[in-house]
Amino acid sequence: MRLTDDLIATDIAAYLEKHENKSLLRFITCGSVDDGKSTLIGRLLYDSKMIFEDQLASLEADSKKVGTQGENIDFALLVDGLAAEREQGITIDVAYRFFATDKRKFIVADTPGHEQYTRNMATGASTADVAILMIDARKGILTQTRRHSFITTLLGIRRLVLAVNKMDLVDYDETIFNDIVDDFYAFADELATDLEIQPIPMSALAGVNITNHSDETGWYEGPTLMEYLENVPVGDHRLNAAFRMPVQWVNRPNLDFRGFSGQIASGTVKPGDRVKSMPSGKQSTVERIVTADGDLSEAIAGQSVTLTLADEIDASRGDAIVTADDPTEVSDQFQVRVLWMNEAPLLPGRRYLLKIGAKTVTATVNAPKYGIDVNTLSDVPAKTLELNQIGVTTISLDQPITFDPYDVNRNLGGFILIDRMSNDTVGLGLIDFALRRASNIHWQSMDVDRNALAEQKGQKPAVLWFTGLSGSGKSTIANALQKRLFALGKHTFSLDGDNVRHGLNRDLGFTDADRVENIRRVANVAKLMSDAGLITLVSFISPFRAERRMARNMMADGEFIEIHIDTPLDVAEQRDVKGLYKKARAGEIKNFTGISSPYEAPENPELRIDTVNRNPDDAAEEILDYLKEHGFLGA
Ligand code: ADX
Repeated sequence: MRLTDDLIATDIAAYLEKHENKSLLRFITCGSVDDGKSTLIGRLLYDSKMIFEDQLASLEADSKKVGTQGENIDFALLVDGLAAEREQGITIDVAYRFFATDKRKFIVADTPGHEQYTRNMATGASTADVAILMIDARKGILTQTRRHSFITTLLGIRRLVLAVNKMDLVDYDETIFNDIVDDFYAFADELATDLEIQPIPMSALAGVNITNHSDETGWYEGPTLMEYLENVPVGDHRLNAAFRMPVQWVNRPNLDFRGFSGQIASGTVKPGDRVKSMPSGKQSTVERIVTADGDLSEAIAGQSVTLTLADEIDASRGDAIVTADDPTEVSDQFQVRVLWMNEAPLLPGRRYLLKIGAKTVTATVNAPKYGIDVNTLSDVPAKTLELNQIGVTTISLDQPITFDPYDVNRNLGGFILIDRMSNDTVGLGLIDFALRRASNIHWQSMDVDRNALAEQKGQKPAVLWFTGLSGSGKSTIANALQKRLFALGKHTFSLDGDNVRHGLNRDLGFTDADRVENIRRVANVAKLMSDAGLITLVSFISPFRAERRMARNMMADGEFIEIHIDTPLDVAEQRDVKGLYKKARAGEIKNFTGISSPYEAPENPELRIDTVNRNPDDAAEEILDYLKEHGFLGA
């Protein structure tokens, strides 16, 4: 969402300045290629004499092409109908087009309509004031229409145009139009109470009710699309909100000057205003508002500025400077609404990166409380979230962040979730509220700490994490090693998948999600054990790199020792100690690791044990040597 603002701020600044005195309306078009979205935009521009006939023709031709290509039409920046320039350096899939009429200037976010592009639509919607929902008069309200209305409403848009297009193909039949409108009202009633909906019958192709009224729809008394867009009130909600500026970077050209730079997300600021730096909560007064064109006496939402403060206070990238009268909140646990945008479903318990404003933190997303059915808007049970599914869940972060609830301030309440391995954006989230328990639970700082406990035992705690296929020999080697450690007087404990699954984890099976949870729990238990000063042996298949990495990151530096029991599948299968491979091959066991469920071998384990050429006792000796060499066993 930041990206959007930045793009607009940098690339389009000159254009906006030219039309400085006109109000700005941002809108988004939602619908499929076939619904005539591109034709509509072309028609708006053509009828407003902002492009020429040949451009319109090529636009229409493009819009008829199937697939995404037709969506990425190559004219974007249209200024006063004189020049069509290209947007530069924009690689995201939302095309922002700019145009202006005598009355007003516009930014339209045009996004591909296929279901898999919900993400782009959501990005476009996050800054829009109005959403145009394209309906094909022959098809009426589709699931996609409902999804788009839901998402735009979720993201705070309260004005919807129900653009019933292709009326020419249904003989401009008033009844058909009315039925579609009734159908939509019935749905919208459930959506939000404060929605303003403007239905317009139109034909983008024939130019009916785009900028000109037409005899064909003599029965329609409402505005044309352009009349609507030019006259709909645009109170910039960002201007009326409290002052917030996420700090993008800290400027320090010399010792006397320290400025905090960023784009004002909402509200206004003047020298002399009392502000707080969040999350620290330190207070100060704005001294100067510095820009490339000199100091300002006031700055407003959307402007990029550098603030200097009267006091030496610390704020770093990702913090926020906010008004002291109405500061943002701080928490590390939230209830959120999430729109899942990835083919791979949400794995509750897995850690994702969460990006909010200029800040990136690590978030654990818990199992959804419920999902939301976009057709009926009712709550549905959900254990996870699939592609395009929306759910309500809680998250916890590795550090507190400063935020506003999304309903209060779109800019400081919206976030994205990023997969740590692929770096893909996998979810879009809105903060509902902070969980009170986050601010009430404080870690007891103990006098008898983990160092004292380990010292008492004459050892350094360690988590020996054995990973490998079923039947690879994890438990056997762990067992041989534990005997040796015991004989040396060391304090150990062994956590074994087969055993832990009988107690603590007996509610878990072998789906990906269950395995993630299995490892999350055992990693937490192992952490407690190492806090108790123990050498802990964990023997779980733990097939996913992400969860092993999570376990590693939980432990103190150097205390996580990953040991890959590297037995090839055919060898483990041949041994088949428990007879499980045979059953798995016969289809009697589902999701069996190595056969019908993946095993992701470690890339950089501390130790790799070859069990084909070594016996378990030799392997145990090798691990013991490692522990001695690295000082785990004391003097
Ligand atoms: S993990 O993948 O979640 O780490 P874990 O180590 O706890 O697995 O449990 C693996 C043990 O469960 C195997 O050694 C085997 O005895 C048993 N098991 C039963 N079903 C399966 C299955 N589908 N896949 C793998 N192991 C299974």
